[in-house]
Amino acid sequence: MKAAVVTSFEQPPRYGEFASPVPASPHDEVVEVLASGLHPRVRSQADGSHYTSTDELPLVPGIDGVGRRENGELVYFVLGDGPLGAMAERTLIDTRRSVTLPADVDPVAIAAAMNPAMSSWIPLRTRVDFRPGQSVLVLGATGSAGRLALQTAKRLGADRIVAAGRGAERVEALRDLGATHVVDLSAEPDAVAAQIAATSAEVDVVLDYLWGSPTEAAIPPLLKARGDRSRALDWIEIGAVAGPEIALPSTVLRQANVRFLGSGQGSASVRAIVESLPALAAEIIAGTYRLDADAVPLRDVEAAWATRASQRVVLVP
Ligand SMILES: NC(=O)c1ccc[n+]([C@@H]2O[C@H](COP(=O)([O-])OP(=O)(O)OC[C@H]3O[C@@H](n4cnc5c(N)ncnc54)[C@H](OP(=O)(O)O)[C@@H]3O)[C@@H](O)[C@H]2O)c1
Repeated sequence: MKAAVVTSFEQPPRYGEFASPVPASPHDEVVEVLASGLHPRVRSQADGSHYTSTDELPLVPGIDGVGRRENGELVYFVLGDGPLGAMAERTLIDTRRSVTLPADVDPVAIAAAMNPAMSSWIPLRTRVDFRPGQSVLVLGATGSAGRLALQTAKRLGADRIVAAGRGAERVEALRDLGATHVVDLSAEPDAVAAQIAATSAEVDVVLDYLWGSPTEAAIPPLLKARGDRSRALDWIEIGAVAGPEIALPSTVLRQANVRFLGSGQGSASVRAIVESLPALAAEIIAGTYRLDADAVPLRDVEAAWATRASQRVVLVP
């Protein structure tokens, strides 16, 4: 069958041949793939840099998507870590990791939004005790996942939603998605620290897509500006687009009641993640989220890899 095939971690996937899937367990089922998102996680799968990479080649990238089952039903599916991903004419799903979708759903909208939206939906719904009226800071709010995180926070009743990202105009535009306050991370360091302290001193949760230097610079002013330093703060580390590490002074940490949690593959059981998905799919179908998606035919996968547009690219047959 035709697929996007990675034969070297140094090169983007190419459109080519890959062995057709064969079910191996009672829960396996072959589906026709209708849409699969090109998420940052998929790029790191295809270049071997993701922390789950086994270095096995060749591989077909794609961690999730929308497929048509043999009985005609549409499903959203999440794949395991094997060599056959979703960017193929057909793939092998585990029916226990799939969600049945209405027949009239837009596969591209679901494939674009589920992965980035679950990065905020799952932690706010299941990892922390988030309640309506609480406040959230989104670090990295200009990306697909960050923009959806603002919308998740709004949907779950957040009172104050602070959007931090680089570019004054870009962060201003995030008010349309629910941000009540914005921070331009590309300003001078002292100005950024002052904006963080002014907008985010009293937040209950930080959804962090950046890590690296912007997170390192945000922690001290935020924690030091809290009116009551003993008030609990959950700092949820979700992505690391700005760097893999931070330095955290012990004196800053010891003066605060902050809990750092990781959110990603391995941080919650597969079962817990899958149980969260039907409600999220229902929200996407109901129109809770705005996210621009760009559908690209599978045969153009190489060109799709080269684009860095802000829309989420989704490969379609
Ligand atoms: N753990 C999970 O479950 C999960 C799920 C989804 C996503 N993620 C992770 O979350 C991260 C973001 O995903 P995404 O889908 O939003 O990616 P994306 O759509 O590619 O967006 C990345 C955003 O980060 C911004 N950015 C990059 N470097 C920055 C810096 N130094 N300071 C401020 N902003 C910076 C980019 O802005 P510019 O345009 O200015 O570069 C862009 O807006 C990725 O690491 C992804 O792997 C994790």
